[in-house]
Amino acid sequence: MPRMKAAIFVEPGRIVLDEKPIPDVGPRDALMRITTTTICGTDIHILKGEYPVAKGLTIGHEPVGVIEKLGSAVEGYQEGQRVIAGAITPSGHSYACLCGCGSQDGPGTKHGFKAMGGWKFGNTIDGCQAEYVLVPDAAANLSPVADNLGDEEILMCPDIMSTGFAGAESGGVKIGDTVVVFALGPIGLCAVAGAKLMGATTIIGVDTVPERLAVAKKLGADIVVDFKKGDPVEQIMELTDGRGVDVAIEALGTQGTFESALRVLRPGGTLSSLGVYSNDLKIPLSAFSAGLGDNKIITSLCPGGKERMRRLLNVVASGRVDLKALVTHRFKLDDIEAAYDLFGHQRDGVLKVAITP
Ligand SMILES: NC(=O)c1ccc[n+]([C@@H]2O[C@H](COP(=O)([O-])OP(=O)(O)OC[C@H]3O[C@@H](n4cnc5c(N)ncnc54)[C@H](O)[C@@H]3O)[C@@H](O)[C@H]2O)c1
Ligand SMILES: [Zn+2]
Repeated sequence: MPRMKAAIFVEPGRIVLDEKPIPDVGPRDALMRITTTTICGTDIHILKGEYPVAKGLTIGHEPVGVIEKLGSAVEGYQEGQRVIAGAITPSGHSYACLCGCGSQDGPGTKHGFKAMGGWKFGNTIDGCQAEYVLVPDAAANLSPVADNLGDEEILMCPDIMSTGFAGAESGGVKIGDTVVVFALGPIGLCAVAGAKLMGATTIIGVDTVPERLAVAKKLGADIVVDFKKGDPVEQIMELTDGRGVDVAIEALGTQGTFESALRVLRPGGTLSSLGVYSNDLKIPLSAFSAGLGDNKIITSLCPGGKERMRRLLNVVASGRVDLKALVTHRFKLDDIEAAYDLFGHQRDGVLKVAITP
């Protein structure tokens, strides 16, 4: 049986490059040959054991590649075609999908819903930090890529861009809104770009890393706040004349940033949460207006599926948003352990790494 290289979760603290059989292709699957992929902040949660996955699983959920083999029932594509698939691969036919929340897809479950069930790559099935990945429900998930778009230009579409933009979309950002984004990692930076696309006219970015604050300004932040130079809540309330923001996007996944996001909302404002949390959250009463503040708290898992990917590819192709600055480092798949080390420790100004088999 032909084999391939893959980055495999062994135990907390260890993801190693090893060999696995190239998967067999079922009727509704497609085998994708990976040309470029990357590492997500969520993979670091997995590496640290903060988000549990099965031992032996191939990690990675951001595939750019070429169709190597199509399942017998998949129509409308050709082998050899360049494609991406989202980090989230909804089946397209579950109750959750037909309800418009394919990220919570549960096709085999009694009611058709499963929390986070649409996130399969590198979570419940083998992921794409490998030479090949099997794409389930290929007809719902493969999105063709135009020849003039380079791999690195579209590398953010499967997850980072989809998730960051979803922070602004789920938050219901409106023209003229004031929006704050807590944490300017790749996800928060894309939330800034998404808020700008949605029409926010004052965007405040919160972080402390100078390079990240600078990229946030390039992508649309009007003001940046360094959380180490004073209480960010006070700084934001001052910047908004005590009014607070219309939408606060949380892009880290900690009690501190969640709470700050809640405290800077104007009455009736929306907290749009993107972070992956590894502990229970508390809602402080002083930020909760006795439950009568008309506030909304909304959470989003990265939207996936081929229609979402088609739209994001169009955003890139149209030049509305240019995320090339997010790819700061490049590694061969053979050196993925070094890539994890650099990315996990956020050394050398890293934002995203491009990994090529
Ligand atoms: N919802 C989803 O579908 C989804 C998808 C992908 C990633 N995520 C999650 O999004 C989160 C962000 O991922 P990332 O890769 O962008 O993160 P990252 O780790 O690259 O960046 C985090 C940033 O937070 C900053 N930071 C630390 N403490 C802060 C504070 N108190 N206030 C403001 N900023 C602070 C750091 O300086 C850093 O720049 C992670 O929890 C990740 O797991 C969620
Ligand atoms: Zn991710």
